[in-house]
Amino acid sequence: MEENNLSSLEHEIKRRRTFAIISHPDAGKTTLTEKFLLYGGAIAQAGAVKGKKSARHAVSDWMEIEKQRGISVTSSVMQFQYEGFCINILDTPGHQDFSEDTYRTLMAADSAVMVIDASKGVENQTRKLFKVCAMRNIPIFTFINKMDRESRNPFDLIEEIENELGIPTYPVNWPISSGKDFRGVYDRAKKHIISFEATGGQNRVNSVEADLSDESLGELIGADNREQLLEDIELLDGASEEFDLEAVHGGRLSPVFFGSALTNFGVEPFLESFLEMTPPPLPRNSSAGLIDPFDSSFSAFVFKIQANMNKAHRDRITFMRICSGKFDKEMDVLHVQGNKKMRLSQPQQIMAQEREIIDEAYAGDIIGVFDPGIFSIGDTVCSPGKKFEFEGIPTFAPEHFQRVRQKDTMKRKQFVKGTTQIAQEGAIQIFQEPYTGMEEVIVGVVGVLQFDVFEYRMKNEYNVELIKEGLPYSYIRWIDNKDIDPKTLKLSSDTKLVQDFKGNYLLLFSSEWNIRWALERNEGLELSEFNRGELQ
Ligand code: G4P
Repeated sequence: MEENNLSSLEHEIKRRRTFAIISHPDAGKTTLTEKFLLYGGAIAQAGAVKGKKSARHAVSDWMEIEKQRGISVTSSVMQFQYEGFCINILDTPGHQDFSEDTYRTLMAADSAVMVIDASKGVENQTRKLFKVCAMRNIPIFTFINKMDRESRNPFDLIEEIENELGIPTYPVNWPISSGKDFRGVYDRAKKHIISFEATGGQNRVNSVEADLSDESLGELIGADNREQLLEDIELLDGASEEFDLEAVHGGRLSPVFFGSALTNFGVEPFLESFLEMTPPPLPRNSSAGLIDPFDSSFSAFVFKIQANMNKAHRDRITFMRICSGKFDKEMDVLHVQGNKKMRLSQPQQIMAQEREIIDEAYAGDIIGVFDPGIFSIGDTVCSPGKKFEFEGIPTFAPEHFQRVRQKDTMKRKQFVKGTTQIAQEGAIQIFQEPYTGMEEVIVGVVGVLQFDVFEYRMKNEYNVELIKEGLPYSYIRWIDNKDIDPKTLKLSSDTKLVQDFKGNYLLLFSSEWNIRWALERNEGLELSEFNRGELQ
C-alpha cells in the first residue's frame, strides 16, 4: 500500500510541468497560451481567453481596478492536461504596466517560454523578464511568433537574442519563408519539413511531413523556398551550437522554435518538443539543504499575495508553489515563519478559466489559499514534522518613485498602517530618507500601475487620501557592503541615500551614468539590483 502511494506520488510529480510565459506586450503570449489550452481540451474554442477585453475579465477579473482600466493587473495560473502531462502555466501580466508580482511569479516556475515577435525581435520587457529567469538559471525556451507576417531575417533574430540576452541558442526548427508565403518549418532533429495548411479554423491545422530529399518538396513549399531552405540548413549546421540538453536545463542554451500562434502553424510541434525537454519539478534550496520534490512530505512557499479579491470580505488569497510531496486539504501544515500549526483554508486552483476548490495537489502545482493576513511573500509551509525555510524571494529593484504623505493630517495613524501593510504584502516597496521619521514615505514600484493600486487601496481600505510627488529617479541599488558608513559615500548631487524598513541602505539614481559615477568615486562599493532573500 505504502509502495503504491509512493509510486503514484512519483508518477504525479513526474508528469508535472510548471512554466511561465514571458514576453513584451503584444508579442502573442495570450494567443499562444490559448492555443495550448485548446490542445489540452481545457477550452473549447479560440477567443475564450483572449481577444475581447471583456472576455479577459472572465479569467482574472479580481480587482475593481482591473475593471476600471480594462487590463489584467494580476498574474494568474492555469492548469490543464496534455498527452499525459499535467501543465501549470504561470501567466505574467501582458500590459506595459507590469509589476513586481510579475517577477515574483517567475520564482515559482521551473522553466520559461519566451515569446518574441518576429518582426520586432527582443523588446524591453522581454529583456527584463529574461534577466530574472537567467538569475535562477532556469531553462528558457524561445518561440519566435508571428511568422505569418513579414518577419525579420531568422538569422538576424537569432543573433540578436544571443547578443542582447547573452544566451547561446539552438534552433530546433527553421522557418520556411514568412508572411503570406510562410509554409512551415524544418525540423532539424528529424530532418524533415512540416508544411502547414491554413484551414481558416482556429483549432488544429493540417500538416504534411516530407523529407528534404522528397521529389515533391518543390511542389509542396515552392522551388524558391526549397532552394533557400537548403542554403539555410547548410549555414545553420555549420554555424550553430550543438544541441546539449544539459546546457538547456542549466539555462545556458535556449532552444528556439518558429511559428505563428494565431494561425496554429508550429504550435503543436513546439508544445510537444518543449514538454519533452522541459524538466519536471526541480529541487529547491532551503535552510535544510536542497528539498527533493519527490520527498513524500509536503512543502511549499508563498510567492504572491492577492489582496481583496472579494471586496465584501476583505480577504486575501495567498499563492503557494508546492515544492515537495502531496498536499491534502485535510492535512495539518506548519507555517514556519509564524511557527503555527494550521490547516490551509479553501485551497483552490485555477483550471483554465475557473477557480476550483481542490482536495489534493502535488509538487509543481500552485495553490491559492484563503489568508486572514498571516502570510508574507517568501514564507514556507511544510509538514509539521519538518521545520525549514525555503530560500527567500528576492526584492526587485523598483523603477518608479513617489514621495507620499496623507492629505488629512488627522489620518496619520491610518496612513502609517496602510502603507506598512500594503508594503508587507509586497504590493509596493517603501523607503525612508534617513533621520526624517515616517512623516513622508518614498514609494517605489516596478510598474506604475502599482501606484494606482496603492492609492486606490489606501482610499478604499484605509480611508486615506494621498498627496503624491513624483521623483526623478529610475534606478535603485542595494549597498552590499556591510562595513561602509553610507554617510561618507561620495555621491553626485542628484543621487539620494534612502533606507528600507529593515534598515538596509540603498541609493536612488536618475541615470545609469550616476551609478557608474558612484562606483568610480567610491572604491570597493558594491551595489546590487536584487536583494536576495537570505536563508536564516
Ligand atoms: P500578448 O498577450 O503578448 O500581449 O499578445 P496577444 O496574444 O494578445 O497578441 C497581440 C496581438 O497579436 C493580437 O492582435 C493577436 O491576435 C496578434 N497575434 C498573436 N499571435 C499572432 C500571430 O502568430 N500572427 C499574427 N499575425 N498575429 C498574432 P490584436 O489585433 O491586438 O488583438 P485581437 O483583436 O486579435 O484580440
